[in-house]
Amino acid sequence: MAFADRTPLPDSGARSQQPQVRDKNGKKKKEPIIELRRFAGPSVHARQLDGIRVAHVTDIHVGRVTPLRVQMAAAELTNAQKPDLVVMTGDFVCHSQAYLDQLVEVLSAYDAPMITVLGNHDYWSGADEVRRAMKKAGVELLDNAWTTFTVRNQPLQVVGLDDAYTGHASRQDAVKGIDPKRATLGLSHIAEEADGLWAKGVPLVLSGHTHAGQVTLARLHELSVGKLAGHRYIHGMYGSRREDQEPKGAVYVGAGIGAAVIPLRLGKRGRREVTVFELGHEIGDIDEHHDDQPAHPGRKPRLRTKLNRHVAVHEKRKKRERMAAKVRRKADKKRRD
Ligand SMILES: [Fe+2]
Repeated sequence: MAFADRTPLPDSGARSQQPQVRDKNGKKKKEPIIELRRFAGPSVHARQLDGIRVAHVTDIHVGRVTPLRVQMAAAELTNAQKPDLVVMTGDFVCHSQAYLDQLVEVLSAYDAPMITVLGNHDYWSGADEVRRAMKKAGVELLDNAWTTFTVRNQPLQVVGLDDAYTGHASRQDAVKGIDPKRATLGLSHIAEEADGLWAKGVPLVLSGHTHAGQVTLARLHELSVGKLAGHRYIHGMYGSRREDQEPKGAVYVGAGIGAAVIPLRLGKRGRREVTVFELGHEIGDIDEHHDDQPAHPGRKPRLRTKLNRHVAVHEKRKKRERMAAKVRRKADKKRRD
């Protein structure tokens, strides 16, 4: 494949370059460390595409725990790669709607067109409100739907699965009507949904949710995310991107940018991450961080667990409505007094 008109491939292992920031006491603030990793797409794309550069950013968790300068450093690092498309795979916020204006600001900092799916934290915080913020930022959101992104006359079908953790994913709806002969890319907050999408003709799925465990020293992430949380896919590329190998599909789990509770990230695999996918490149053309990995054993969530997760979304919404009513009553009382 010829890539003569493309920007040069970024250096593997590059970091975000931020001007040195000082706090109010003049002390140097630590520069955010964001790993840049890059991978070729699945081998089938090499026959279907002449080259589309997709940047994957996930779990930005705009809010109190993740400083705005980290968000802007992620946008700057992404923009520097000159991607044709940016995809984000859920968890745009943390636990509240307090940072939706900041979310619009952060999303607007990305130069390329953006296609996204929601995650569990978006449902916990109010999916409709997050959707409105994304619309304001000009971002396309796929709720169990697909769209065709075209660049340099190359169509790429992007399938977006809604959040499976909170019970909103519908694979049938998401892939309904896709053209099996066209290049396709899947997005799902939960990586374990990938296997089902492979069977529907989606050769590569990009995901998030695990934050790579955040602490990967002494392979702690394999215990916390793998054994305890039951994930088959923890961080990086799993499955197979090669058409002649099993399984017939691959999934990439991004380490993400933000955090919802504890900002701690220790160990190289747990660092914040922007990942660039050179769709249309042959595997082996690119110096990749690691090769396709086999899945961990994992453990499917029980029916009761799934039900509880679904109910939690409604309970959190009711709690928000109760709080809003309380604030309104207080304001009314103050006006009357
Ligand atoms: Fe997350």
